[in-house]
Amino acid sequence: MIRSALALGFVLALGAGPATAQSTPGAPPPPATAPAAAADAGALDGKALYRTKTCIACHGRDGSRAIQNFPELAGQDARYMLAQTNEIADGKRVSGPDARGYPRTQGMKDVMHLVSVEERAAITDYLSKLPAPKPRPLDPPIDEARKAAGKDAYLKGGCITCHGPEGNKPLAAHPYLGGMKRDYLVLQTKEIRDGVRKSPKLAAMMPFARKLDDEKILLIADYLSQIERPAR
Ligand code: HEC
Ligand code: HEC
Repeated sequence: MIRSALALGFVLALGAGPATAQSTPGAPPPPATAPAAAADAGALDGKALYRTKTCIACHGRDGSRAIQNFPELAGQDARYMLAQTNEIADGKRVSGPDARGYPRTQGMKDVMHLVSVEERAAITDYLSKLPAPKPRPLDPPIDEARKAAGKDAYLKGGCITCHGPEGNKPLAAHPYLGGMKRDYLVLQTKEIRDGVRKSPKLAAMMPFARKLDDEKILLIADYLSQIERPAR
C-alpha cells in the first residue's frame, strides 16, 4: 500500500532524530551500572513503541493530532482500544473507503504485523493515560440551540446507556465519544448503522443506530465533538 509505505517512511525519518543525537561524538557514555534500567529491560515502553511502530504517522503526536478524519486515541479506553487494534489487525473491523477508494482501515492493517499483542497492549495502555485533546472548533461553529438539540437527540437516542453522560462515562471497555472529531463520529455512526463496521459487541447498539437518519447523526456528532473530556 502506498499510504502505509509513506507512513513508514515518515516514522523512520522521525526515528532518525533521537538515534542520531544519541550517537553524537562527545555525548556522555551510559553509566557503567544501571540496575534500575536493567530491571525494567523486560517491561514494554508503550510511548516508545507508539513512536517507532508507525502509529504516530497516522494518529499524531501524543495520540492527539491524527491526520484526516482518523481517530484521536489519547484518553480513549484502554481495553476498547486494544480490542479495536486486534480487530483491525485481524481484518474483523473493516471500514468504508477513503478518498482514494481504499478501506480506511487498510493502511493500519498493513503495519500491524510490526506489533505483538503484548506491544499493542503496552501502547494502548500508554495512550489511555494521556489527556484527550481539546475539542476542535467546528466551521461554521454550532450555536447553543444546536448543541441543546444534539444533547436531546443523544439522550432520546439512548446513547447514554452505554456511552454515558456527554459521551464521557462509558461502560467498561466501551468507547468515549465526548470530544472526538465530528467527522470521525459521523463516519463511524453511519458505518455501524449500515453494517459496514461489524463486531459482536455492536449487536447491542444496532437497535439504537438503526433509528438514526443522516441528519440526526450529524446533529449528535456536532454536539459530542464540542464536549471537553475531563481529566481522569
Ligand atoms: C496508515 C495509518 C494508520 C497507522 C499507521 C495506524 N493506524 Fe490506527 N487507525 C487508522 C485509521 C484510519 C483508523 C480508523 C478506521 C476507520 O475509520 O474505521 C484507526 C483506528 C485505530 C483505533 C481505533 C480507534 C477507535 O476510536 O475506534 C486504534 C485503537 C488504533 N487505530 C491504534 C493504532 C496503533 C496502536 C497503531 C500502531 C501500532 C496504529 N493505530 C497505526 C490508521 C492508522
Ligand atoms: C447497548 C450499548 C450501546 C448503545 C445504546 C450505543 N452504543 Fe455506540 N457503541 C457501543 C459499543 C459496544 C461500541 C464499540 C463496538 C466495538 O467494539 O466495535 C460502540 C461504538 C460507537 C461508536 C464508535 C466509536 C469509535 O471510537 O470508533 C460511535 C460513534 C457510537 N458508538 C455512537 C453511538 C450513538 C450515537 C448512540 C446512540 C444513538 C450509541 N452509540 C448507542 C455500544 C452502544
